[in-house]
Amino acid sequence: MSEGQVSVSGNREAVSLLVDCDTGIDDALALAYLCSQPQVELVAVSSTPGNVAAEQVARNNLSLLELCGRPDVPVAIGARAPLRIPLVTTPETHGPQGIGYAELPEPRGKVDEVDAVELWVETVRSRPGELTAMLTAPLTNFSLALRAEPRLPELLRGVVIMGGSYYYQGNTTPTAEWNTHVDPDAAAEVFTAFSGLPEDRLPVACALETTERIELTPEHVAAFAAEAGCTEPELVLPDQPEGRRSTASNELVRHVSDMLRFYFEFHRHYGQGYVAHIHDYFAASVATGTARYRTRTATVHVETAAPKLIGTTVADFRGLWGEPPNARIVSENHPQEAFVELVRSLGGLARRLENPAV
Ligand code: RIB
Ligand code: CA
Repeated sequence: MSEGQVSVSGNREAVSLLVDCDTGIDDALALAYLCSQPQVELVAVSSTPGNVAAEQVARNNLSLLELCGRPDVPVAIGARAPLRIPLVTTPETHGPQGIGYAELPEPRGKVDEVDAVELWVETVRSRPGELTAMLTAPLTNFSLALRAEPRLPELLRGVVIMGGSYYYQGNTTPTAEWNTHVDPDAAAEVFTAFSGLPEDRLPVACALETTERIELTPEHVAAFAAEAGCTEPELVLPDQPEGRRSTASNELVRHVSDMLRFYFEFHRHYGQGYVAHIHDYFAASVATGTARYRTRTATVHVETAAPKLIGTTVADFRGLWGEPPNARIVSENHPQEAFVELVRSLGGLARRLENPAV
């Protein structure tokens, strides 16, 4: 069992991240969180099709990074579709633009001319052992990078994946989680690429059985706005008319609130209550080392053929298949700590963006 934890000194260790996301609401929250962490070097953000099409993902990434004061971070696009099967997006979950009701400013920056897969491979080759991959999307781009550079598992400092569901109901089919369902072949190739490596080289997998424990509520939104210095309470409530827009005095609070209202409505519509599972934020807290968690080593299989089981992930924790482990699956996390961290960090960022002197 291995456990990630905040360093005892309270000084957070520097981490250099390559991020691949399909921005979406929880990806957006994760990116904003990364921008709030001074110890994080955000090396590049690549855009994989998933929640919305790749071009929309990239636009969301550019706009959000500019909103969070990071127009310097390169944003790239690689694949426009999964490796084999057609792309399926989910406007019902994240909204037609992938950011709920938020209407982010038109980005001033442009998508990087370098293809995301080439960007990943060249960057990792140039900084062996330094970079951590944070993957909160279908694994299309990462699998293509592995094909181009099979040494990636050894060249990367670490890999954190949001995806999969282990002995827990899926959120896309009864057994499959969204990211592995959108591109099951890519997910299968990624786990296979890590097969047999030493435990500390295996990807840390944040899957639904633990990410759905990070269940954000309207109270957290109110606390975030207060931490940002908003004078009026930020009320996102189930009995308010759907689609109501925030009037918060702080711009980041306004946009995040408009994203989350859509996400709350989606979760309620699917019988999960007026809550929001912020999966990718948890993966970001693991990648930055600010979350405490435990993992269990396993051999992961991703189903790519059986029609009703496409994208289903199964973990062999006991070596019954006689195959070497290829993942470390998060088995324990701490939701309350996660929300204290999120509110304090995001609230502080929102406040600083409008009062740089603080
Ligand atoms: O199943 C949740 C995952 O799928 C998250 O990464 C969410 O953004 C979607 O991509
Ligand atoms: Ca995502």
